[in-house]
Amino acid sequence: MLRAPALLTGPITEWGHPMEHSPSATFRGTVVHGDKRGRELGFPTANIEVGSPELLPGDGVYACWVSFPPAGLQYGATVSIGANPTFDDVVDRRVEAYIHDFDADLYGSDIKVTVHAWLRAMVRCDSLQELIDKTAADVAASRIALR
Ligand SMILES: Cc1cc2nc3c(=O)[nH]c(=O)nc-3n(C[C@H](O)[C@H](O)[C@H](O)COP(=O)(O)O)c2cc1C
Repeated sequence: MLRAPALLTGPITEWGHPMEHSPSATFRGTVVHGDKRGRELGFPTANIEVGSPELLPGDGVYACWVSFPPAGLQYGATVSIGANPTFDDVVDRRVEAYIHDFDADLYGSDIKVTVHAWLRAMVRCDSLQELIDKTAADVAASRIALR
């Protein structure tokens, strides 16, 4: 099992490896407006402005649990952390959650994210279709990891 410092320094290499549930694997933020490309790609995301970025794990794609008001609602999510290297204009570090089986406006909501498993590193895709295919595979893998 990984200890928190390893989690903070970067992703682990084994696919779907469950992460230790330490405080550093949980972070909170507010849902803000992104570039709105997600819906066009078929994967609308909640862009999360994180209050304490030092609690974030390294850049990559993760299977996570997310919860938000009203209290008690918890959903699986596939979360990307990092710049979006496929798009030259997205160079800032972002946290974006594709929430499984959920379609509602969360703008302004406080959201809590518990990281469960690392899936892969962020990559630059050569086409939008490649990004869509990778994201679809991530979501399938994430659903399995969260079972
Ligand atoms: C599961 C998942 C995996 C992603 N993987 C990548 C990636 O490998 N490379 C990349 O440039 N962006 C990746 N992204 C980010 C997308 O580019 C981003 O969600 C999309 O552009 C929509 O952004 P927007 O909400 O700001 O419009 C990923 C997003 C998700 C949800």
